[in-house]
Order: sequence, then structure tokens, then C-alpha cells
Amino acid sequence: MLEPAIPEHLRRERTVPPRVPENYTPNFSCYMARYPESTTDLVMAVFGAQFATRGDNDSTSEALSKLASFLSSGLVDKSIQPRFQETASVVDANGYYNEMLIAYWPSTAAYDYWARGSGFKQWWEGLDPNKEPNGWFIEAFFPSIDRIETILSGNEVAEGAVHLRESFSGPVIEHLYWGSMRDRLPASQTDTLTGDGVDWHALKCVADIPRRVRVPGIRNLAVIRSGQDWADAYPEERELYQSEMQPVLTEGMTFLRDDGYGIGCFNCRFVKIMDPVTGKTDRDRTFGLAYFNELASLERWSKKHPTHLKIFGGFHKYVEKLQGNITLRLYHEVLVLKPEQQLFEYVGCHASTGMLTAVNGHPGL
Ligand code: HEM
Repeated sequence: MLEPAIPEHLRRERTVPPRVPENYTPNFSCYMARYPESTTDLVMAVFGAQFATRGDNDSTSEALSKLASFLSSGLVDKSIQPRFQETASVVDANGYYNEMLIAYWPSTAAYDYWARGSGFKQWWEGLDPNKEPNGWFIEAFFPSIDRIETILSGNEVAEGAVHLRESFSGPVIEHLYWGSMRDRLPASQTDTLTGDGVDWHALKCVADIPRRVRVPGIRNLAVIRSGQDWADAYPEERELYQSEMQPVLTEGMTFLRDDGYGIGCFNCRFVKIMDPVTGKTDRDRTFGLAYFNELASLERWSKKHPTHLKIFGGFHKYVEKLQGNITLRLYHEVLVLKPEQQLFEYVGCHASTGMLTAVNGHPGL
């Protein structure tokens, strides 16, 4: 049975009309995470280590092990660990190699408790960019529960924030039409979620290397983590994914990375999930992680830009060619954040890392 994307306890009398057409029924099923009713906010944090070149190709860096020691292996009090974490890597537009740990906590209070109790906060605040052999960054998000939506193409495998769920929803009504992402966000019932023009230079956080720079949060920043998992693909499907889907997806992510600034995308990384020990990225799982000035810019790119339209069109052909017999799993989580729900800090990173792009301008501009 189809159900509304927004769970009952988060439904409000709408002052902003939804985009869903009347009597709409999607022609395939997608599911959402249902968090405990007591959940008021969640945390997704990206911790990164940045290198001008990649070192040993058979293992992850010592820097990543250092980060991991705060998140799990070195912790005495296991109860403060994040509920879920995974490792990933990406070579960015400047050719730098970045290793990342992405972790999720069920509340800001749990994150704060971890940051203090694990010694991370003290270590992070003591880092001297002039002495560190690599760059470090934190990009952390603290959405109230009405400012996050997660959608998945299946209801068996959890991804990202879905690991914090109480259950999966049934198939939801609001998907597969442009504007459905917005309709799934509880905050959109009463808020148009528009951003602000920001005068970054007035904020006086211009960066050069080596520096510690905190980038202030902005009104209604939109964050998307959009993932693909073809680990279970059978040979014909795998071949089709690699020949038809991957090239257009790479094109889309490269556009957002290199030319996205002009359409409101501050930064985009097309990231590979990585083995936390060997550093290998052969797990057949990737995700795009992108930061937009507001939800409308992300909507415009997905609905109108040839790169996402090619991805979207390619997917329909993919389903058709395989006659619906697909194991490819897709998911995304979208966060629309108040300024105080964002933490961006960079220690000795190059000037186009993450949200530093917003401050310093985009390479090539
Ligand atoms: C929506 C396909 C990657 C951004 C969609 C939808 C499909 C799709 C089928 C409609 C989903 C629904 O509501 O049922 C794909 C495929 C991808 C991919 C096959 C990769 C293989 C990405 C990436 C991004 C992205 C990497 C951004 C980083 C979006 C957004 C929407 C969307 C923002 C929602 C639009 C709205 O509801 O207004 N995509 N996509 N997609 N996609 Fe993608």
C-alpha cells in the first residue's frame, strides 16, 4: 500500500502547496527511512585527510587511521561510537587525493558527547596547519528531523542515515516527478527553503595554504549524497551499468565539479567507497556528494541540465533493456540546513577544497 512520504508526526498544515500532481501514482516503488518519533535531529559528518599525491597504494593512510581511532578502534567507551560509518576516497579537481570517513550519529547531543569523550575535539583544535604533513577537513551537518529526506530504490539494504532508522516505510507516493524531493522534506510544508546571496569576502574567511579556515554556514544550504551500488549486478547488468550508466554519471559529476559554480553548486565530489584497510575502491559503490546554494538550484540541475537528464534517461533505458530485472541499488539523502546546522572547517587544505570553493571562487573562474 502506498503511503505519504512525510510520517504522520511530522505532518503540518501546509502553507506552501506540494508539487505532487492530483491522484498521482508512481509506476515503481521507492522507500524511505522511518526514524523513531523521539528523533529530533541527526548528524552526518565527513572527516577528511588530504594529500598532494597518493602514497602507498596498498593501504589507507596513517592520517585515516588517526581519524578512525577517534571513531571506533581506539575508543574506550564504545557507546559513543557513531551508529554507522564508512570510508571513501576521491581525487579532486586539483589532483589532490582525499580520504574520508563518513559517520552518522542519532542526535547532535550524541555527536557532542563523542567529540569530547573520544578526545577528537581537543586533538582537532590543537592541529597546527604549519606542522601537519597533510590537510584535514570536517564537513558536518546537524539537520533537524524536518530538514532531511532519504529515499531508496529498495527496502532491504540500508545506506547512510538510513542506518539510524527504526524501520523502512512502505512504498511512498511522492517520487518520480520533478519536485518530489522537496515534497518529501517535512520543512517544505511551511517553508520555501530559499537561500541567500552571500558576500563571502565580507565574511573575511578567505583562505590560503596553510591555514585553518572555518566557513560559516549559509541559509538553506542544500546537501545531496546520491549513491549507486552495483555490487550484486549479474554479468549482463554489470556490463550495461559500466557502458551506459557510469559514463553519463561521471559526465554529470564532472560538470558539477568543474562548472557547477555558475548554477549554484559550490562543490561536488564523485566518491568511491573504499576498503578501510587496503584502500581499494573495488566495491562497486560510489556516491556523489554535492553542496548547493539552495534546493531550487539542485532541482533545476536535476530537472533541466542535460547531464542529469542523460543519467535519468539512461536509467529508463537500463530498466527497459534488462526488462526490469535489476539489482542496481540507488539512494539519496538530501539535507536543507540552517546556518547553525553546518560546520565546515579546513586545516592546511588547498583553496578549492569543499566549501572553500565558495569562499575563494571556483578554479577556472
Ligand atoms: C531524481 C536517476 C544520480 C540528483 C532522480 C530520479 C531518478 C534518478 C530515476 C527520480 C527518483 C524518484 O523520485 O523516484 C538517477 C540515476 C543516477 C542518479 C540512475 C545514477 C546512476 C544522481 C546524482 C545526483 C542526482 C549523482 C546529484 C548529486 C537527483 C535529484 C533528484 C533526482 C536532486 C530529485 C529531483 C526532484 O525530485 O525534484 N534521479 N540519478 N542524481 N536525482 Fe538522480
